[in-house]
Amino acid sequence: ADVAARTNAVIDELKGLEGPLLPILHGVQKEFGCVPRDALPVIADALNLSRAEVHGVVSFYHDYRSEPAGRHVLKLCRAEACQSMGGDAIADRLQELLGISFHETAKDGSVTLEPVYCLGLCACAPSAMLDGVVIGRLDEGKAQEIVAEVRT
Ligand code: FES
Repeated sequence: ADVAARTNAVIDELKGLEGPLLPILHGVQKEFGCVPRDALPVIADALNLSRAEVHGVVSFYHDYRSEPAGRHVLKLCRAEACQSMGGDAIADRLQELLGISFHETAKDGSVTLEPVYCLGLCACAPSAMLDGVVIGRLDEGKAQEIVAEVRT
């Protein structure tokens, strides 16, 4: 079925909830592995919201993506404590090693790179999360390990 039909199926199931937007976005992401751009106007119409409102929510929550993620998802903390501990340099280094920028997925589908804003690991800054597992005190060695891991 096309994006609109599959999106409508998710909407029909969840629109009776109070505050249905987030559950619907979650359901759509589960259905497609992402929130496709074409789903946004369908959701907006169904909930009587403007497209801008729906788009705003999707971009506010960093967990929603407009394309399917890579096999691995690497999140790098971009918040203050990590920045002050060399987070920028290690973020640059990882982008260089992976050949992608934030919000991008490697062409071979191996990894998606995303920013996060504090993982609650400030004491071990700079920190990251690879496939849900936190990694503290990022340095060149750990960056190399991460790259080796996502390439396998
Ligand atoms: Fe990076 Fe808190 S600021 S983990």
